[in-house]
Amino acid sequence: MAVTIKSAREIELMRESCRLLARVHQEMEYAIKPGMTTRDIDVLGDTLIRKLGCIPNFKNYNGYPASICVSVNDEVVHGIPTEKRVLQEGDIVSLDAGLIYKGYHSDAARTHGVGQISPEAQKLIDVTRQSFFEGIKKARSGNHLHDISNAIDAYIKPYGYGIVRDLVGHGIGTALHEDPQIPNFRQMRRGIRLQAGMTLAVEPMVNMGRSDVVWLKDNWTVVTQDGSLSAHYENTILITDGEPEILTLY
Ligand code: MF3
Ligand code: CO
Repeated sequence: MAVTIKSAREIELMRESCRLLARVHQEMEYAIKPGMTTRDIDVLGDTLIRKLGCIPNFKNYNGYPASICVSVNDEVVHGIPTEKRVLQEGDIVSLDAGLIYKGYHSDAARTHGVGQISPEAQKLIDVTRQSFFEGIKKARSGNHLHDISNAIDAYIKPYGYGIVRDLVGHGIGTALHEDPQIPNFRQMRRGIRLQAGMTLAVEPMVNMGRSDVVWLKDNWTVVTQDGSLSAHYENTILITDGEPEILTLY
């Protein structure tokens, strides 16, 4: 599939879709506390998305059974919400959410601490978030896609963390996953040339230990192979002729 360039009208719809998703994330962040189940977070997010008149795009995506991906501690992404998983003080929880507004998809993820967390866990969350911002400094028309990948990699490397290689960012628009794929680690080729009007979901996933991940038997939940903590940070962005616009920030 070709990489799509959005028209002015489509960009407006993407902006609105992303703005609404940012509100959903904000509400979920406020709600997180020890004692809550991962299922409670899914119900909250799903309800908010529908209240806003939107559709949760993850629900039933390739059979995914929930609206919000809730991944705790060593779970990297695609954790399946369940009433059996109770959040504990000191956990870190990654929330990945998306919605469809008038046919246009948005996608964003955040990792939050539950109550007080260790300084080491907070540092992993902060470095993961900052790697996104370092990456998108390169996200402007005329640059190449892998300038983003290389900048993320270069920022994380000195910390000794493992950058997940088996999952990548992606284009987004009338589909949740459009071309191109956006790796978060160093690339040998430059990748496609970036153009104004591209909308991309840039989403570094970073492990405190090694980069290797494994899939659980539920066929969804991705966990670190070494059991180390993992953090995720994702926004949908718009490439412009100047600075990129981060569409899912609140
Ligand atoms: N946010 C995820 C991504 O960027 C989408 C989750 S896929 C789902 O690829 F099936 F879990 F919804
Ligand atoms: Co995504």
